[in-house]
Amino acid sequence: MTYNANTRIFHIDPINPDSEAITLAGDVIRKGGLVAFPTETVYGLGANALDSEALNRIYLAKARPSSDPIIAHIFDDEQLNALAIDIPEMAYRLSGFFWPGALTLVLKRAPDVPDNIATGLDTIAIRMPSHPIARALIQSAGVPIAAPSANTFTRPSATTANHVLEDLDGRVDIILDGGATTIGLESTVVDLTQGESIVLRPGGITMEHLREIVPDIQLSPRYLKMDNQQASSSPGQMVKHYSPNAEIMLFTGETDAVIAHMQKIAFGLKEAGKRVGVLGADEDYRYFADDTDVKTLGSRDELDAISHSLFAGMRMLDGLQVDVILVRDFGRKGLGAALWDRLLRAAEGKVIAVE
Ligand code: TXA
Ligand code: MG
Repeated sequence: MTYNANTRIFHIDPINPDSEAITLAGDVIRKGGLVAFPTETVYGLGANALDSEALNRIYLAKARPSSDPIIAHIFDDEQLNALAIDIPEMAYRLSGFFWPGALTLVLKRAPDVPDNIATGLDTIAIRMPSHPIARALIQSAGVPIAAPSANTFTRPSATTANHVLEDLDGRVDIILDGGATTIGLESTVVDLTQGESIVLRPGGITMEHLREIVPDIQLSPRYLKMDNQQASSSPGQMVKHYSPNAEIMLFTGETDAVIAHMQKIAFGLKEAGKRVGVLGADEDYRYFADDTDVKTLGSRDELDAISHSLFAGMRMLDGLQVDVILVRDFGRKGLGAALWDRLLRAAEGKVIAVE
């Protein structure tokens, strides 16, 4: 296996990404190399979606099992039509509302698109990102860009260029540093190949927002059961994912009771000699003692702030080498559904329900 000895980092103005670095990075993509770049959700690890060898490099760099399919990022409808066939009316309705943006559509794959983008499935996941750097890069490359999140497999997704470097230094040719991503959680994945619209992964576009356009859209039954240890309709959706090195303890229940229980558990863990971290809302801070590493993510009513900071918070507490991270449920409304999904996976499906 060959890794790139040197990873080059370029700082790019995220508002006006007009630069030589974009041209260079587009060239690297076209020639089969790897470029990490910001999107509005998280950083992606990009390669030419039409080059099966370049796609293999993504799996190698991420240490990702080749059973986990990758999203193709497009610049315009022309690229959509080159990647997918039998595109249903619903795809145009949804993309009309949400593209460019944090929505990924699973469609039937065109036969000449390399099948290792979708691990041999006859489908392909497609998204048109809105981030100006992502758009400029795809345009400059002149090909659709396949990109999973730019973290090593099972680690929290990267929301800054530094996170990418932590995981992928020496494994990617170029990192385009456009600062922290805004949404901080990955896109919502909607499968349109089953006849109905099914959400395979909740994400940056909320269920409530989707229902305004598609009232009968469903959350994947497998997702609801959270029985994802086995193969599922969205391969790569096994529970362990987005995990920091520390053990995550996830608490759910009425907020005051949850906080009280977290205080008790934190105290017990520290008595046992553990270093304890807490991920919570700003309002939770005062309930924990000085010898607890508390990372607050935002006000409890501002789920967009909490989403923005979640993965960075996990990585920050990991950096402090805490043994355990206590984190609470932030509800299921709006971005709460995606937050809950990521937390549940980070906790490997184990939940502490507080009465
Ligand atoms: O926001 C995002 O979606 C980010 C940025 C970089 O665009 N990308 C991302 O990629 O999160 P990744 O590889 O970490 O997650 C891709 C998700 C997985 O849940 C995968 O199972 C699903 O998309 N997926 C990809 N192709 C699929 C397909 N053909 N059928 C069903 N699910 C698919
Ligand atoms: Mg990922």
